[in-house]
Amino acid sequence: MPNSTKAYISELKNNVGQEVTLAGWLYNSRASGKIQFLIIRDGTGLCQCIVEKGKISDGLFEQLKHLGQESSLTVTGVVRADERSVGGYELVVTDAKIISPTTDYPITPKSHGIDFLLKNRHLHLRSQRPWCIGRVRHTLVNAIRQFFNDNGFTLIDTPIFTGIAGEEAGSLFEVDYFGEPVHLTQTGQLHLEATAMSFGKVYCFGPTFRAEKSKTRRHLTEFWMVEPEVAFIDLDGLLELAENFVSFIVRGTLEKNRAELETLGADIASLEKITPPFYRLTYTQAAEILKSKKTQDFLATQLNEFKTQKKQLEDKIATLETEAKGVIKQWRQDKIAAELIDLRIELNELDMKIENNPKHAKLAAEFTWGEDLGGSDETIISLMHDKPVFVTHYPREAKAFYMKQDLQNPKVVQNFDLLAPAGFGEIIGGSAREDDYELLLERIKEQGLNVENYYWYLDLRKYGSVPHGGFGLGVERTVAWITGEPHIRQCIAFPRMMDKVYI
Ligand code: 4AD
Ligand code: MG
Repeated sequence: MPNSTKAYISELKNNVGQEVTLAGWLYNSRASGKIQFLIIRDGTGLCQCIVEKGKISDGLFEQLKHLGQESSLTVTGVVRADERSVGGYELVVTDAKIISPTTDYPITPKSHGIDFLLKNRHLHLRSQRPWCIGRVRHTLVNAIRQFFNDNGFTLIDTPIFTGIAGEEAGSLFEVDYFGEPVHLTQTGQLHLEATAMSFGKVYCFGPTFRAEKSKTRRHLTEFWMVEPEVAFIDLDGLLELAENFVSFIVRGTLEKNRAELETLGADIASLEKITPPFYRLTYTQAAEILKSKKTQDFLATQLNEFKTQKKQLEDKIATLETEAKGVIKQWRQDKIAAELIDLRIELNELDMKIENNPKHAKLAAEFTWGEDLGGSDETIISLMHDKPVFVTHYPREAKAFYMKQDLQNPKVVQNFDLLAPAGFGEIIGGSAREDDYELLLERIKEQGLNVENYYWYLDLRKYGSVPHGGFGLGVERTVAWITGEPHIRQCIAFPRMMDKVYI
């Protein structure tokens, strides 16, 4: 390695005018006669490195000129501030060392289909979008821990092998545990309730598993969930905790990852509005909204907007296709090819929205009290609000056995879902817990669960039962909402989905 200061791209602001050495990979390069522009990435950012013929040996100049994407190398040069440059700083190269040259890296700047990218996830993670999302996720996870740690919560690591179901029994992954069937946890909640009776305010944070047969953009079979649980709290207290918590973690990502959010095209202005209080609707009010004329009008307006957007996209695609057929430079060809793939993905998504809109309108119009809100219903409610919306008091029949019955209206439970705005839908599910022994026992039986397995959970209602509750926030869905990424499979490094485990 050349004998100069080792630096990281994210810290180049401290090295302006100095000679430093970066160690990284070749992200992209372009040559024009006597000058080459190498974009290097080092894990902390991107930096343009300028190589001038004559400033380094001719042999090295030629080697760099033919260096393939993702070759590893060190580059030494003098740091220069340049607003136009990616990252704001660039390197005027004085030396370089190729560590491992690469040819035919499979993921080129041209776009690829999703199947290809998932098969090559181990490499795709080096690309800008997954990198930016990974950084936002890191900040989010940190902010989540900080919020609970700073507010008097004790971290409890709940088990992954469990004997009782916390959510729908239909979505359990069974494991052969030395001849006994156990399953992978769907939620840490039940064990967490036991610990709340010891520590007062607790949270768990780990992977959870659901064998849900849903191939939607909102479902993974393995996802990360953070769950706080609090003794002596009611539904209003939970809503307040949830809105303060979500506002805090969003603010954290805005403070630390503005550049990444900009690269991702996230809606920063909307994120800046995420402050308490959030909107509050009861399930019954949400049902009325869904069936209202206002909703039908809203969806009709949306359909028209989608059609206009489609027309504009088609025109743009046609223009680029015409340009591509003409005599143009290779770099421009590549750029157009990449742009076209992205535009066609966008067009596909629009086509899907245009196709779904009338179906969603019909589902909303026919919504009947008693059903759980479906994905499209959540999308509609969430699109009609510019801040997250709490939907509370769902019908008892549609919800989990542990949710506390509302004493004023026994048909509903004291629960809530938090819907993120802009159509992202549910990111939190939570409730006050049934703390009455008899009522809980009745619900366990009603749902056909094996009472014996729940002896310890029932004990919590026998020995010093107190009003308590909590909620669970899904990390991938929250990352998707904040980054504006439509599909949560992009929001975890190695996604596990119903149809396939790729790598
Ligand atoms: O609403 P859910 O099922 O609630 C519970 O598990 C409660 N036991 C939590 C509690 O009260 N402690 O799930 C909570 C959140 C959802 O709002 C969603 O963000 C996420 O977990 N989630 C999923 N994320 C990705 N893929 C899936 N299949 C998910 N299922 C739930
Ligand atoms: Mg839920």
